[in-house]
Amino acid sequence: MAPLLEIEGLCAGYGTGTVIEDLSLRLRAGEVLGLLGRNGVGKTTLLKTLMGMIPPRAGRIFFDGADIAGWQNYRIARHGIGYVPQGREIFADFTVLENLRLGNLDRDDFSDIFALFPDLAERRHERAGSFSGGQQQQLAIARALVAGPKLLLLDEPSEGVQPSIVAEIAEKLAAITRKRGMSIILVEQNIDMALGLCGRIAFMEGGRIAEEHNTAALRADPAPIERYLGV
Ligand SMILES: Nc1ncnc2c1ncn2[C@@H]1O[C@H](COP(=O)(O)OP(=O)(O)OP(=O)(O)O)[C@@H](O)[C@H]1O
Ligand SMILES: [Mg+2]
Repeated sequence: MAPLLEIEGLCAGYGTGTVIEDLSLRLRAGEVLGLLGRNGVGKTTLLKTLMGMIPPRAGRIFFDGADIAGWQNYRIARHGIGYVPQGREIFADFTVLENLRLGNLDRDDFSDIFALFPDLAERRHERAGSFSGGQQQQLAIARALVAGPKLLLLDEPSEGVQPSIVAEIAEKLAAITRKRGMSIILVEQNIDMALGLCGRIAFMEGGRIAEEHNTAALRADPAPIERYLGV
């Protein structure tokens, strides 16, 4: 079967600086991949490039039958990639419903989303700015899901979220991938969450994917985790 996502020779950066350099990566439909690496290696930059928020300088990004490299952000979203940014970036002055509508302007019925996030259903008319970190993160994930993506990019969803809620969010994400066959690329500092949710982990260093390992192999031998994340 052809991969859902196939990145080849990708280069991207800011100004004259290069962050992503000749990066290649593949992802199957339904696969949950962890993307790990030290602060500043370019994890967020890679997700933003996939999302069309930073233009790729070279390389190809095959996603679901098209080379999306160079496409506008809205067109990539419509083609099936959802994005939950680092720091969430929900609209604090907007209610839950208003935030969800921004995720998909064609939709008014969010019952499937509310079934998954009952907390949000209860607070649908409340402004998001008053929410806890965990509630805001769930809203950011819900907002990305309303467009029905085939691939969800998650940038450090556990950041600023209390541990019990991190586990709850991980369970919901696992349920969605099972139910919808959705794929995920998960950037995480929380190793437990990454190992619990992902089937495979890619370690990023020097602008590219340095190594990839199955999660089961990493549990047996965690040396790569130390190598790419240790100080
Ligand atoms: N808007 C920007 N303009 C210029 N340089 C940037 C910009 N954003 C990030 N960088 C630089 O690009 C490099 C990669 O940053 P990026 O945010 O992608 O790393 P990261 O792996 O997501 O880090 P973290 O784990 O801290 O989130 C860093 O050296 C960073 O300083
Ligand atoms: Mg980042």
